Amino acid sequence: SRHVALIPAAGVGARMGGQIPKQYMPLAGRPMLLHALQTFAAHARIAHTYVVVSAEDGWIDSLMTQDLLQRVSILRVGGPTRQDSVFNGLNAIRDQVADADRVLVHDAARPGLDAALLDRLLDALAGDEVGGLLAVPVVDTLKRGDGGTPARSQETVPRAGLWAAQTPQMFPYALLQRALQQAQAQGRLGEITDDASAIEMLGLRPRLVEGSPRNLKVTLAQDAALAEFFLKGPHA
Ligand code: CTP
Ligand code: MG
Repeated sequence: SRHVALIPAAGVGARMGGQIPKQYMPLAGRPMLLHALQTFAAHARIAHTYVVVSAEDGWIDSLMTQDLLQRVSILRVGGPTRQDSVFNGLNAIRDQVADADRVLVHDAARPGLDAALLDRLLDALAGDEVGGLLAVPVVDTLKRGDGGTPARSQETVPRAGLWAAQTPQMFPYALLQRALQQAQAQGRLGEITDDASAIEMLGLRPRLVEGSPRNLKVTLAQDAALAEFFLKGPHA
């Protein structure tokens, strides 16, 4: 079976609050999305990369250099939420992949993925029938707020065994498609924020593979500076 990448890039970047969607903002000299696109497109173990954008997207074509055009396809099927975009993307490539092909879903907003991290995930999941994701053990002390304003801490949530999920998240095509199909049928597509959640809803246990701080998701304006720090230097 092959590995294919699916990059949801149809968000508007509301929390970032910029003039253009964050995936197209310049970061370390290139549009944010180009970092992940080039990492996948240049990787020998990735057969093809699909990027999901919104139907009205006016930026993606300008990113498609000649070398990318061979290895990247644009799917203009973005939906209202990330999971809709992923689900629509999976359905759009149905005829181009086999059921057993592994799909690596990766946020356009994680520019720090590099070939070494990608290899770590692929190596760890080789032969695994469920699949899994990059994630990092939680280091903060966690508090459950009481929902009030100002908020008060109700309790401390033990962090032992807790991981913060990253992407890529890799699953066999047919399994992930079925998992999202079921989540949608149960009206739970909107409640999940990653692909592994849908797999868990089937009663399966995705493997947790150690990710890296450099693979952070750029969500708020200040995250961009940290992402640039990692992208510009030889940092872990
Ligand atoms: N995404 C998507 N389709 C959506 C929403 C998000 O493809 N309807 C993508 C984003 O482009 C991003 C990834 O999913 O690459 C993770 O989402 P997030 O970081 O939340 O990005 P945005 O939704 O764009 O940001 P915000 O939630 O602040 O608006
Ligand atoms: Mg979002």
